[in-house]
Amino acid sequence: MRTHRTPAAVILLCCSMVFLLSPIVLKGQLRAGADRRGISIGAAVNMAPFRNEPIYNQTLSREFNMLVAENAFKFDATEPANNSFNFNDTDALVSFAAMNNMKVRGHTLIWHSQIPGWLLNGNFTRDQVIEIMRNHITRLIQRYSATGVVIAWDVVNEAFEENGTLRNSFWMQRIGPDYIRMAFQFARAADPTGSAKLYINDYNTEGTNAKANALFNLVRDLKAQGVPIDGVGIQDHLINPFTVQQQHRDNLTRLAGLGVDISLTEIDIRIALPNSTQEMQQQATGYGGLMQLCLSQPRCRAFVTWGFTDKYSWVPGTFSGQGDALLFNTNYQAKPAYTAIANALGSGTPTPTPTPTPTPTPTPTPTPNPTPTPPPTPTPTPAPGACAITYRITNSWPGNFQGDMLITNTSTPVTSWALTFTFGGNQQITQLWNGVVTQTGSNVTVRNAPYNGSLGTGATVNAGFLSTVTGTNSVPTAFRLNGAQCVVR
Ligand code: XIL
Repeated sequence: MRTHRTPAAVILLCCSMVFLLSPIVLKGQLRAGADRRGISIGAAVNMAPFRNEPIYNQTLSREFNMLVAENAFKFDATEPANNSFNFNDTDALVSFAAMNNMKVRGHTLIWHSQIPGWLLNGNFTRDQVIEIMRNHITRLIQRYSATGVVIAWDVVNEAFEENGTLRNSFWMQRIGPDYIRMAFQFARAADPTGSAKLYINDYNTEGTNAKANALFNLVRDLKAQGVPIDGVGIQDHLINPFTVQQQHRDNLTRLAGLGVDISLTEIDIRIALPNSTQEMQQQATGYGGLMQLCLSQPRCRAFVTWGFTDKYSWVPGTFSGQGDALLFNTNYQAKPAYTAIANALGSGTPTPTPTPTPTPTPTPTPTPNPTPTPPPTPTPTPAPGACAITYRITNSWPGNFQGDMLITNTSTPVTSWALTFTFGGNQQITQLWNGVVTQTGSNVTVRNAPYNGSLGTGATVNAGFLSTVTGTNSVPTAFRLNGAQCVVR
C-alpha cells in the first residue's frame, strides 16, 4: 500500500495562505466605536485566563483594539536573572495582538516595584545599575520595535510621591534623579525611528494637585532639555462615584500644550462591596465621562482599563472590601459602564429619536431693489485669536539663554496660529519646541506645530526655545497672535 504524501509545495502554499489572510475580527461596540473615532481602546491582560479561558480572549479581541500586560512585561517577569530574559508571555501577547489587529502598550520598563531580587540585593555600583537599566530597556524595546505592534512604552512608572517630590525608589537611591532622563534616552537609542511613543505614567495625577503639578513640571523640563519623551499616562485608578471635573480637563490641556500625547492607561472605578444598582449607574457615569474627556482632548490617544472582567481584577486583592471596578461582570456580561462608554463613542444601541415636527419655513419678504451705493471701505475685522502671553527667561549662560512662552488664546477658537514679536536686542533663536520658528533680523514668527494648531478659547500652548544673545537680553514687550495684539502677563 502506498502512503499518501502531501507535496511540500502544497504545505507551503496552504500555510502561507493562512498568514496572508487578514484576520477577521468580530467587533463589539467598544472596538467598533473606538476604531471609528480613531483612538485606541485597551485592557490589561492577566496571563492565567489568557492561557486557559477562551471566552477571556474572545471578549478581549472583540471589544478592544489594544492590550497591555498586567504583569508580563515587568522587570521581574522579563529578566528573572541578570541578562537572562524570558519572553514567553510577552511574545504570546504580541502575537495575539498581531493576529487580531490590535496594538500593545509595553508596561513597564523602570518602576519602583516588581524589581527582581538579583537586582535589588545585588550590591551593584551606580555604573553597573545604569548599565543593567540600559540593557533591560534596549532588549525589550528591540525585541518588538520591528513588529509595529507595540506602539507605546511606559518607560518610567510612578516616579512621584503624593507631595510631588521624586519617589525615593531603588532607582533614585542607586542612580539619583537623572535616572528618568537616562531611561528615556536609552529607550530612544534602542529604537531611533521612534516607532513607539515613550511615556511617563503615574496615578493620582488626574487633576491639578501637587503630584500632577510635579509631573507636569518634570515633563516640561525634560522637553526643554530635549529629552525624548512623547507621552504622559494618567492611570485613573478611581473610587466610585467619580465625575470628571474642570481640573481634569485643565490638566490634560496643559499637558497637551507641552506637545506630548496623553493616554488614560489603567482605568478602574472601584465600588465598596456589595455593590448596588445605584452604584453601578454612578460607575457608568464615571466611565462615560472619562471616555468623553479623552475624546474631547485631541492629544488623548488611548483609553485603557486595568482588566475588563470583574472576575480578574487586582482591586479586591489590593483594596480590601472593594471591587466590581470593570466593564464586564464575572460572567462576562456587559455592565452599565460598558454601555456608557459605547454611548460616549457613539456606538451604543441607538435610542429612537423623536421625529422632529416640521417648522414652517418663513415666506421671504421681497427686498426692494437696492439703490447702488459705493462699495464700502472695508473695516478691518479683528483677527480671531487675541492672546495672553507669559515670556520668561528660564536659564542663561554666557552667550546663550533658554526661554519659555506660555501662549493662551483668549479669543475665538483658531485652527492654526502664528505668534509674532520683535526682539529688542541681539537675540537669535536656534531651536524651538511646540512650534515652528522663523526669524528675520529681530522679527520672530512662531507658527503652530502640526499637532497644536487648534486652540479653543482659553487653550494654552507652552513653547520653549534656545537662543544666542549678545549684549543685553531685553525681553520683547509686544506680541501678536494671528495679527491681534496680546496682553503680556
Ligand atoms: C498591579 C497588578 O495589577 C497586580 O497583579 C500586581 O500584583 C501588582 O501590580 N499601577 C501600575 C500597575 O502601574 O503595574 C499595577 O499593576 C497597578 C498599579
